[in-house]
Amino acid sequence: LVSTPFHIINQALVQRIYRPRAAFAHKGNFGHALIIAGSYGKTGAALLSTRSCLRSGAGLVSVHVPEKSVAIMQTGAPEAMVLPDADATTITRMDYEPDPFSAIGVGPGIGTGIKTRFFLRELLERETSSLVLDADALNIIAENPELLNLLRPGSILTPHPKEFTRLFGTQEDDFKKVEVAISKAMEFNVVIVLKGHRTLVALPDGTGFFNISGNAGMAKGGSGDVLTGMLTSLMAQGYSSKEAAIMGVFLHGLAGDFAATARGMDAMIATDIIEHIGKAFE
Ligand code: APR
Ligand code: MG
Repeated sequence: LVSTPFHIINQALVQRIYRPRAAFAHKGNFGHALIIAGSYGKTGAALLSTRSCLRSGAGLVSVHVPEKSVAIMQTGAPEAMVLPDADATTITRMDYEPDPFSAIGVGPGIGTGIKTRFFLRELLERETSSLVLDADALNIIAENPELLNLLRPGSILTPHPKEFTRLFGTQEDDFKKVEVAISKAMEFNVVIVLKGHRTLVALPDGTGFFNISGNAGMAKGGSGDVLTGMLTSLMAQGYSSKEAAIMGVFLHGLAGDFAATARGMDAMIATDIIEHIGKAFE
């Protein structure tokens, strides 16, 4: 791995990936994203992912939440369609076919309860396209490592350093973490987004891309949920997992930089990142 090629994610690279919307486009051209998120007391995670998904270009956005979260979701994100779970407070069942969705993002705020574990296993067994896996979806996989073998090629995993450690064990330093991220991306044929101040996008071909946008104002609960929504939205629009990850982490950080300019690093909150996604795309 000594010769592993590393790259920087900057505006020039992202501009080569971005596809402008055609004048005659209709919503069918931009895919249908599904967000699976939330549990009682963590509907906010579902709202943040859904709102950021809506702000990142997908043609349609649906969200699967526990039954008690439905009214909150329909009020907080009226543009999204809501699929209520049979359970009041957690995600437990897939009462729909996963096929119509062009991308699925799962994990923010879902918890790691037994029924939610069974749900995630069912999703991984039934879903035939790639997924964006974050937060508690990763924590569930960490406790049931055999699930790693069910991941579709090109899925995106977005662990923060603690989630990464739960998944792949403890590393002695960040250099080692980068090496492990690359080798796991190759082994499981997935994209691993190791989040932090300089987020690494580790690709299954053994290359690594470091993001240069973003700031310490984003070191707050909810920022990661926003990234999940953005990545799912980009995947739904047909960007490959490599393109979505590179463009997504850059735009997420850039939206955070605009949010910091508008609100200040101390005061900014995850919603401010969402409010500046548009400017980042511009
Ligand atoms: N500089 C640049 N970017 C940063 C910085 C920083 N100093 N700090 C954080 N960020 C970015 C990260 O790159 C990442 O995209 O903010 C995001 C934070 O994501 P998470 O760590 O997943 O945080 P979040 O999910 O919002 O926080 C609540 O913590 O333990 C978890 O799973 C739990 O989802 C829950 C979460
Ligand atoms: Mg998180």
